[in-house]
Amino acid sequence: MAALGIIDSANLNGGQKLAVKYFTVAIALFGAQVLFGLLAGIQYLKPDFLFGILDFSVNRMVHINAMVVWLLFGFIGSSYWLLEDESGVPVAGLGLGNLIFWVFTLAVAVVVVVYLLIQVGPGDQSSIWLINEGREYIEAPRWADIGIVVCVLVFFYNVAGTFAKGKYTGIGGVLTLDLVALAGLYLAGMFYTPNISVDQYWWWWVIHLWVEATWEVLVGCLMAYALIKTLGVRRKIVETWLYIEVALMFGSGILGLGHHYFWIGTPEYWFTIGGFFSALEPVPLVAMVVHSVFDAGAHQMKNKNHPALAWIIAHAFGNFFGAGVWGFMHTLPQINLYTHGTQWSASHGHLAFFGAYATIVIGFIYLALQKWRGDVWMSGGLVDNGWKWKWALALLNIGMIGMTMGMLVAGYEQSQIERAIEGSTWTGYFAAQAHHWFQQGMFWRQIFGWAFAVGFVLLVWDLMTIGKRETRPAQALHEAGAA
Ligand code: HEM
Ligand code: HEM
Ligand SMILES: [Fe+2]
Repeated sequence: MAALGIIDSANLNGGQKLAVKYFTVAIALFGAQVLFGLLAGIQYLKPDFLFGILDFSVNRMVHINAMVVWLLFGFIGSSYWLLEDESGVPVAGLGLGNLIFWVFTLAVAVVVVVYLLIQVGPGDQSSIWLINEGREYIEAPRWADIGIVVCVLVFFYNVAGTFAKGKYTGIGGVLTLDLVALAGLYLAGMFYTPNISVDQYWWWWVIHLWVEATWEVLVGCLMAYALIKTLGVRRKIVETWLYIEVALMFGSGILGLGHHYFWIGTPEYWFTIGGFFSALEPVPLVAMVVHSVFDAGAHQMKNKNHPALAWIIAHAFGNFFGAGVWGFMHTLPQINLYTHGTQWSASHGHLAFFGAYATIVIGFIYLALQKWRGDVWMSGGLVDNGWKWKWALALLNIGMIGMTMGMLVAGYEQSQIERAIEGSTWTGYFAAQAHHWFQQGMFWRQIFGWAFAVGFVLLVWDLMTIGKRETRPAQALHEAGAA
């Protein structure tokens, strides 16, 4: 083991060496997401900004595709991170896993460059294959789709093969089964149909069932592992909760899918099914928050990695508010009739994706850095008092909450003026867009967006420097979790 405080791959096991590569690309793509979000936000305020050079539709697409991909990279990295530790054996087929990392990264880079170079033009079979498939969030052309499937299969082989060889744990078992569902669902977003209702019907299988079922379960596994690692929580406790959450999440999330089937031409029974089951979706999220707060209290907040735990707590609350509360607000068909597709949705989308997923990936990266620097001290009293991670945490969270509020105000105004008063007419649409509440909402979204961006820069700086020149080893835990 190398000296404390110095980044050295010798501190990592095989899977973890690969994990930090995934994390590095994840952070770079996070940066791209922020950049293109800011550009798209400016275009809301000044519609002719970069017009004809970098169109809003492209900025928006790169913004949200970068998000999906950086979060996936974060999840894949986190899985590789815990693989050998959980199973007790080296990763099966690690060489192939390494190769696939480079293929995946290169494919993502090519896709983004093509998005930027070919911004307009007719859509036909060749554009579906080579340029853009035109499905929001997963616009990648079909060649890349197929490539992604191959990469994910290799990743799956790494995970399943390793657990098959090594120890079985609850976290490992849930993770493996969840990846089957996650990879399988992606296929639903890959085929083309000229009927927009049918197309949307299947597209939601990826979007909704990913974020409200398989991703939630995946981060449940990550959370369980992270709680054991930061606080020394007993495995029995976290795994019991994990099973309960899995049951609740799938129980409500699968039929909760119906809340996207209200207005796309699907049968009316979806009103009842979607309204009822999606309203139950927040239940596991409440359980998760109660559980985390309880854990933190039970251990008097003694933990070996302050930034990681802070981000895990941000995850618990972000998931609860962003997905649970913000989602619930517009999930009943009676309300969704007015809010559908307004800034209300964007407000929820931002708080949920950031709160539930960005947070936990960032927390995991802090866990990784601690070990990468030789299991260095990362509790209270850091060399620089930890101001960078604390300010990054504050600015990113305040920035996100501020953006969310700006969009929510705009969304309320749209629901009221465009929908309730003007009855969803074309003139109502424009009246709502011209209203000063809408414009002020968009203005404040941008201001808080800048705060978020500053937070991001600080985060990167902190990730590059935290633990440097630190000479104390990590705080010891009662390794109850390892027992
Ligand atoms: C972490 C979990 C979640 C994430 C990441 C998430 C994200 C999103 C995003 C991005 C959209 C906009 C989709 C589009 O572009 O059309 C959306 C829509 C929606 N979400 Fe969620 N969501 C989550 C959980 C939930 C939950 C738990 C509920 C309900 C309790 C919910 C209710 C809704 C509804 C009703 C819509 C449709 C909005 C509309 O009609 O325009 N979401 N979600
Ligand atoms: C600098 C910060 C950011 C700014 C200025 C920003 C701005 C924007 C803009 C202008 C849009 C297009 C909205 C529309 O079509 O009406 C958008 C969409 C979106 N952004 Fe961001 N964004 C930022 C950060 C983030 C982060 C950190 C996340 C999540 C981790 C995120 C998730 C999303 C999602 C899910 C959508 C699609 C929402 C929907 O269609 O309902 N954004 N963002
Ligand atoms: Fe949904």
